[in-house]
Amino acid sequence: MRHLINILDLTTEEIDQLVRTACDIIDNPVKYRDICRYKKLATLFFEPSTRTRLSFEAAMLELGGSVLGFSEASSSSASKGESVADTVKVVSAYADIIAMRHPKEGAPMVAATKSDVPIINAGDGGHYHPTQTLTDLLTIAREKGTFENLTIGLCGDLKFGRTVHSLIAAMSRYTGVKFVLISPVELKLPGYVKADYIKSKGIPYEQTTSLEAALPSLDVLYMTRVQRERFFNEEDYLRLKDSYVLTPEKMQLAKKDMIVLHPLPRVNEISTAVDDDPRAAYFRQAKNGKYIRMALILKLLEEI
Ligand code: NCD
Repeated sequence: MRHLINILDLTTEEIDQLVRTACDIIDNPVKYRDICRYKKLATLFFEPSTRTRLSFEAAMLELGGSVLGFSEASSSSASKGESVADTVKVVSAYADIIAMRHPKEGAPMVAATKSDVPIINAGDGGHYHPTQTLTDLLTIAREKGTFENLTIGLCGDLKFGRTVHSLIAAMSRYTGVKFVLISPVELKLPGYVKADYIKSKGIPYEQTTSLEAALPSLDVLYMTRVQRERFFNEEDYLRLKDSYVLTPEKMQLAKKDMIVLHPLPRVNEISTAVDDDPRAAYFRQAKNGKYIRMALILKLLEEI
């Protein structure tokens, strides 16, 4: 039985297979609409979500399956003091596959040791978010046609942004990749991410506080929200929240074929005036999330 806790649980060949399957689902949806009939997905969300939970649920429904679950810890027995381990042991008797989001780093990994069915990490605290990364990879594949020789700028909250950590881990396996890390000093990439996925592999990278300085060299710009819920005090959040705002004027500094990604939700970091720029790929990205999650469910249920 396979789980998806860290994006590196999948080989690059398996990622290619998921991307190929997602593209086939986009082109031939009818072929897939009954594959998961009588199968159930449980979504256990101990933290807020719009896209991740709803795209998982839409994915299972479009495969002909059913969904059950909860969308906040307060409506589950966690509020009575039940451990994640006990919750998962029980839910794995009700569902064939589980997607779990939790504010504590490592919770889905613990869940995987107790579960009789595949566990998918749908975001664990400020740690990892592998299915967002699959969404990002499908988008890069469809928009750029390759994972190689790309200069990727990651901008905003690189400290608490779990989507950034997983994307760096995934992209570090492709040749010719370069990272430009754009953040305020207080929100720099954690040492373990830099050590494990950038330095140990000798991947070229630059660190800057200036989005304007970075923009001209980028093939992909990955914008992120400052993660308010992970701050220890509101003052720091208020001081840092508007560090970067992407505007049409700044977009003039970028390459004609650069793409702008954002896992969403957006707060202020991308002006809505950028949405009409053909390089703004974030809503196409959100759409891709459903298709890649369909492919992932099929893989973990051993249907592909
Ligand atoms: C991200 C998350 O939950 O980490 N959202 C998402 O899943 N699309 C990014 C964020 O909340 O800023």
